[in-house]
Amino acid sequence: MAVDGVTSDSNGSSIAQPDPQRTFQVVVAATQKMGIGKDGKLPWKLPSDLKFFKEITMGTSDPVKKNAVIMGRKTWESIPVEKRPLPGRLNVVLTRSGSFDIATAENVVMCGSMCSALELLAASPYCLSIERVYVIGGGQVLREALNAPGCDAIHITEIEADIECDTFIPPVDFSVFHPWYSSFPLVENDTRYSFVTHVRVRSSATEKDAAENGTMIDGNSVADKFEIEKFSFLPKMILEGHDEYKYLKLVQDIIIDGFKKDDRTGTGTLSKFGCQMRFNLRKSFPLLTTKRVFWRGVVEELLWFISGSTNAKRVLAVDHDSRLAAFNLVFGFRYTDMHADYTGQGFDQLMDVIDKIKNKPSDRRIILSAWNPSDLKLMALPPCHMFAQEQMANLSIYSNEP
Ligand SMILES: NC(=O)c1ccc[n+]([C@@H]2O[C@H](COP(=O)([O-])OP(=O)(O)OC[C@H]3O[C@@H](n4cnc5c(N)ncnc54)[C@H](OP(=O)(O)O)[C@@H]3O)[C@@H](O)[C@H]2O)c1
Repeated sequence: MAVDGVTSDSNGSSIAQPDPQRTFQVVVAATQKMGIGKDGKLPWKLPSDLKFFKEITMGTSDPVKKNAVIMGRKTWESIPVEKRPLPGRLNVVLTRSGSFDIATAENVVMCGSMCSALELLAASPYCLSIERVYVIGGGQVLREALNAPGCDAIHITEIEADIECDTFIPPVDFSVFHPWYSSFPLVENDTRYSFVTHVRVRSSATEKDAAENGTMIDGNSVADKFEIEKFSFLPKMILEGHDEYKYLKLVQDIIIDGFKKDDRTGTGTLSKFGCQMRFNLRKSFPLLTTKRVFWRGVVEELLWFISGSTNAKRVLAVDHDSRLAAFNLVFGFRYTDMHADYTGQGFDQLMDVIDKIKNKPSDRRIILSAWNPSDLKLMALPPCHMFAQEQMANLSIYSNEP
């Protein structure tokens, strides 16, 4: 993503100058202790991670362009001879040693510093032929590059195992990077891992303080608003993995393909049946920023459901949406005292779900239901959170809510 700068010529008119340096993205796999290598090799065998690495670093939106991968001399040497240079990519090898020579010249260039590599890629002919620049390791190179100002995004394979390493990288600086995408976990060779992408949302931690003291919308900083154009440098598969994007794509699909229906308010509805969105709550919460969400109200309402309270006034104290006042046989009763009278003799569904998740994780009936047909006619509105089913797999909880 080389950005054009603007300077003035002798007549004072503006002329566009190519940026002297390319920005870049990092791709790396690391353990929780940020270990990345041992004895000059990768200390794990994870075929899907290698496939992910290949897809990310090879994919371009322009078929005539390719990407560049920048690596340290030792990482170059760790690639089996028959597999290097990495095909379909320009291999840029960093070395300070004048005597280091790479026999095969095609698709490989050597640079004496990170700066000179990024300058080279910003200049002709590479500014035209190279679409994205990825820094791929190893430890020495990433200690310099990982949180550097030129780093736009970090694609990190998070390995959830304490594998012995002798090469380490620094942790991601969360004062300037935010999670963009997190995959569901995979298990290969008894190792559990997931793919996570962090994007730079601020140039520095100082800017973070300014944003936090700045304008807030519904409790969210304006700086945290979802502006997809700013992140168009991301590979398509990552760009479209953002939770907000899934929601926007579904809305678009309903607008284009939905069928018209009447509704109880007479407004009219566009509807599509049986669509699904999957969200991963391990790194982030899918709170929408492209429409207003009263976050404090959402949290209070949820706490109210699970507290077992049927007193709508408690929510009205924080949420002035009069809709809530109309609740009668409400969620608190449904979740914690379902299908029973309300004298404390009922069945606590929530405790049952928690107990099964902990003690009977293979149970196929870990269910929370707020849908009691015999009470529907007594309710001001039928419950919208009507059913949730939990499943345990790969040490994660999967929740299905219609
Ligand atoms: N888990 C992962 O995703 C991942 C990715 C890549 C590598 N690795 C692992 O990481 C280990 C290798 O990492 P490492 O830290 O030992 O070495 P490295 O960073 O790959 O390479 C270090 C060498 O690169 C050159 N270099 C580094 N920074 C430079 C700079 N700013 N300017 C010019 N040259 C520079 C120097 O080469 P000269 O000595 O020739 O001057 C230096 O000795 C291996 O175990 C490898 O398997 C893991």
